[in-house]
Amino acid sequence: MSKRNLTFVCQNCGAASARWVGKCEACGEWNTLVEEGDGTGIAGKMPGRTPRKGRRFALEALTGESNDAPRMPSGMSELDRVTGGGFVRGSVLLLGGDPGIGKSTLLIQAASALGKLGHRAVYISGEEAVAQVRLRAERLGLAKAPVELAAETSVEDIIATLSEGPPPRLVIIDSIQTMWTDAVEAAPGTVTQVRGSAQALIRFAKRSGAAVILVGHVTKDGQIAGPRVVEHMVDAVLSFEGEGSHQFRILRAVKNRFGPTDEIGVFEMTGLGLREVHNPSELFLSERDLGSPGTAVFAGIEGTRPVLVEIQALVAPSTLGTPRRAVVGWEGSRLSMVLAVLQAHCGINLGGHDVYLNVAGGLRIAEPGADLAAAAALVSSLANSPLPADAVYFGEVSLSGAVRPVVQSAARLKEAQKLGFARAVVPEAVRSEAADPALTLEGVGSLVSLIAEIAAKGEKRGGNGRKSGPQDG
Ligand code: TYD
Ligand code: MG
Repeated sequence: MSKRNLTFVCQNCGAASARWVGKCEACGEWNTLVEEGDGTGIAGKMPGRTPRKGRRFALEALTGESNDAPRMPSGMSELDRVTGGGFVRGSVLLLGGDPGIGKSTLLIQAASALGKLGHRAVYISGEEAVAQVRLRAERLGLAKAPVELAAETSVEDIIATLSEGPPPRLVIIDSIQTMWTDAVEAAPGTVTQVRGSAQALIRFAKRSGAAVILVGHVTKDGQIAGPRVVEHMVDAVLSFEGEGSHQFRILRAVKNRFGPTDEIGVFEMTGLGLREVHNPSELFLSERDLGSPGTAVFAGIEGTRPVLVEIQALVAPSTLGTPRRAVVGWEGSRLSMVLAVLQAHCGINLGGHDVYLNVAGGLRIAEPGADLAAAAALVSSLANSPLPADAVYFGEVSLSGAVRPVVQSAARLKEAQKLGFARAVVPEAVRSEAADPALTLEGVGSLVSLIAEIAAKGEKRGGNGRKSGPQDG
């Protein structure tokens, strides 16, 4: 008989190796390899099982009848917006987020909402006792909601229980890292266990038609902990984000087989749980610091919805050999690009300055349309001259220093006007296309003309506060 093979599995990326090494060859992480049996659940042979003959099953036509509505809207519109119109029956969704961000709160609220709509909703907690979950629901005013609770961690027991009675419509597993299955021979919490448990729950979802939501922990660097493979196995991955100091929480789809991935849902954490925020612009602009240099309002688009948000910049002389570049809510590479264009085409050299850029309210911007607003905020901070408080900015900056148009200009302008802005600084090409008399459009063709405009405004205001031009210009 051959000796049982052992495999070492990286707990970060799931790569398998025949021998132990200090550094995972696949992802480069240190000390992440853990010895696991070769019965890796999904593909591997199960120990102690005799091979059986395959069972025949019926193949079906693509044009079959599906009599139940495939989607179950929860009625929480911010959540439904991100899922693409409600939970899809028979699908599995992974919800990731930092500890304490509000995943359990969001899901108990969603389960209660579906329960109240008459669907059977089950909440399984592997982390908290039933009493704790009940206490939270009580605090949220949801104690009377028809949600079935359990504190369980064995996947086989959970599936056996749920297979009885009317099939549940929504099953919440909080969290997948606490689950374990007999089918794989590995310690609870390991990648193999998490993967095996997820696999079993996915099979259950497909078979029963229930929507299953798995909660996943997030590691320090923001990845859903354990196996990335789980992300590939599920139908949708949502991430719940927010900044510790803010009450705002943003739900974002990272992957969605049944809907868009660019929509965001905005919530506010209150003493009574998560409140939906239907007009995020008002929320993001609510703490605006009017009249201080280094801030510009960016008219952005998140999915189909325009969102106005403040971009804050601080440019300060550096005492370090390599000055600091710190960005929150935007891409660092994008900032470097804007700084390089400012230097190459506008003669503004920030090589001796620390640069900090922050998107207010904990929003993360991914679109290049924020270039112009970021550049305006940077120049305003450097010149110590505030930008007009009633102006919004959007436009993409190209490497040549030209300001390029971006998508959905009309929607951005409409939102700005709705929130009482009087001016929009936009790419020149936008000028003719959207014409609303209430909003003055200032077209800029290049970054150079933007800076000339900011400088002219600063001079016109004259002697207002400490006045200084770009120092290294
Ligand atoms: P929780 O949903 O337990 O987070 P997660 O499951 O992501 O770890 O939320 C915990 C935090 O939310 C906790 O710090 C307290 C806060 N919270 C409120 O502010 N208001 C509330 O009504 C609830 C239930 C929680
Ligand atoms: Mg929790």
